[in-house]
Amino acid sequence: MSIANEHQLYVVMNGRVIGDVQRTGKRRMRLRYSDSRGQSFTPLSVSMPGPIGRYRESILDPWLSGLLPDRPETLRQWRRQFGISHENDAYSLLRHVGEDLAGAAQFVRPERLEAVLERSGRLIPLDGPRIAEMLRRAKADLPVSDIDNGQGKFSLAGAQAKIALHRTEGGWTDPSGSVPSTHILKPAIPGMTDQDLVEAVTLRTASYLELSVAKCSVEEFGDERAIVVERYDRAQQSDGRWIRVHQEDMCQALGMWPTRKYESQGGPGAVSLADLIRRESRQPSDDVRRLVRALIFNWLVCGTDAHARNYSLLLSGQTIRLAPLYDLNSHLAYSDGSGNSLSMSVGGMFHADRITVDNWVRFAPALHIEPDWLRNEIDRQRESLLDAMAAAAASTDIAIYDSPAVRRLLSNTADWMDRRFERGGR
Ligand SMILES: Nc1ncnc2c1ncn2[C@@H]1O[C@H](COP(=O)(O)OP(=O)(O)OP(=O)(O)O)[C@@H](O)[C@H]1O
Ligand SMILES: [Mg+2]
Repeated sequence: MSIANEHQLYVVMNGRVIGDVQRTGKRRMRLRYSDSRGQSFTPLSVSMPGPIGRYRESILDPWLSGLLPDRPETLRQWRRQFGISHENDAYSLLRHVGEDLAGAAQFVRPERLEAVLERSGRLIPLDGPRIAEMLRRAKADLPVSDIDNGQGKFSLAGAQAKIALHRTEGGWTDPSGSVPSTHILKPAIPGMTDQDLVEAVTLRTASYLELSVAKCSVEEFGDERAIVVERYDRAQQSDGRWIRVHQEDMCQALGMWPTRKYESQGGPGAVSLADLIRRESRQPSDDVRRLVRALIFNWLVCGTDAHARNYSLLLSGQTIRLAPLYDLNSHLAYSDGSGNSLSMSVGGMFHADRITVDNWVRFAPALHIEPDWLRNEIDRQRESLLDAMAAAAASTDIAIYDSPAVRRLLSNTADWMDRRFERGGR
């Protein structure tokens, strides 16, 4: 490989080079767009809108870092496998794991460009035991495959172990090159028994409450089990081919480092997200309402980890929308809710059990929402929440495990709602 090659990564979106990233020094790099499609050009980020102009490391480096896992141990193992000595070197890691990411962009080494553009992707069939082994490796922070075949591998944000696979009618496969993963598989968080079930119940509860949510199921692979989440950033075309749909999380959209995902650590809160959506969305009032529905839901179920990276924007040409919800988790399977802090405050209040409907209503103008709509939305969700959660827990793929954690989730949620609303919660 030539020296020059190490200093360049092409940015590809669905078979087109839209630009490249040049590394110009140890800590210096710049993105240059080279796509001339005008209106149909999709930028990497609302923080790097293009279509002309260059973006330097101050904005690019945090954005690239947002494509990588949050788990320090995973990053350490990856650095070891790929022989990268510096910490916080997103560019060097993406040279090895940049071909299947959140969103549509692929970061492709020059010597791989032709193969990726020719759309010569591959699907390697996987059986249950092999997937179980991949899940075990992910849990142990090891690269899911121990060979670096230079064909990309996936990278996804987040603090939990996960793998990304492609599902065909014939079964599960490991994709590479132009063929994207279609699903994300996450085993339960160690130490939180049946957390995969709890996440599935929470996601489905939200969906029964008519929030827009990623679809999921719970499945077994050999002797491992995982929540299987359908990727909304992938779409199948009428000719059967899969395309990638672009997205970025809220820290990326706001030009912030991924380490600032919590409002309490200087990250964006609900007002910043609502402002961003108002500024960027094609349907600002719809999307702000969708955001506020999610914030209310996370309060009602004590979804304590709903930080800025658990909300994303979808970008397609000049059309920007709030993405469906993902990674919803009620903490009420593991606590009674007292003392729990939310990731995003309601007008500066983080303690879930101290927040009242009046606090929400007073917060409405800052979120660009009519107070009456907000009050009605809280009523709407709280009236149906327990039924929705019971229905979610009764789905076959969850009910068969007769999980004590899910039973606790149901009973703690009922108690928590009682305390919120019956005993002076207003
Ligand atoms: N259904 C989905 N479709 C497309 N992208 C998704 C989907 N679910 C998650 N993602 C992407 O993958 C990333 C990691 O997923 P997720 O948030 O579920 O992981 P996590 O490790 O549980 O996160 P956290 O650190 O917040 O606990 C998300 O930030 C998002 O970019
Ligand atoms: Mg997450």
